[in-house]
Amino acid sequence: MKNGILQCATLCAALPLLCTATAATMTQASYKRDVSPILHDYCLNCHEPGGKGYQKSGLDMRTYQSLMKGTRFGAVIKPGDSFTSILIQVVEGRVHPSIKMPYGMNGGLSKQHIAVLKRWVDQGAQDN
Ligand code: HEC
Repeated sequence: MKNGILQCATLCAALPLLCTATAATMTQASYKRDVSPILHDYCLNCHEPGGKGYQKSGLDMRTYQSLMKGTRFGAVIKPGDSFTSILIQVVEGRVHPSIKMPYGMNGGLSKQHIAVLKRWVDQGAQDN
């Protein structure tokens, strides 16, 4: 990451346009600032004790720790790999439509929200 930013800064001097694009994709996503508010607004009411999603899958999104623990069957986030992370698969609808998340919500999450979740997972899904 540090190297990447350095390279970006070097490139930036030579190619300002390219740099703007690179910097945007390299911004560090934060669990507290970026991810937690999305989960809170779109997922938590079903994914905490008493909610449907929690009841059915065991996935509790109240904290970073409970999120990383995943469902009764295991983790739904694989740090560094959004493609195989189940949480990303279900919000992108890359699974059976009956388990597209947020469950029952027309259209699902916005592209921007999905991009934030993916970036955070790809950057290591840290408690940051
Ligand atoms: C309206 C209630 C509801 C909302 C809102 C909701 N979920 Fe779920 N979620 C469920 C239910 C019910 C299941 C169990 C689905 C099943 O196994 O049939 C589930 C299961 C899951 C699973 C486990 C899937 C698997 O195959 O193991 C993940 C991951 C998940 N939800 C993520 C999310 C995310 C991320 C959000 C917010 C963007 C979200 N959910 C919002 C109800 C909800």
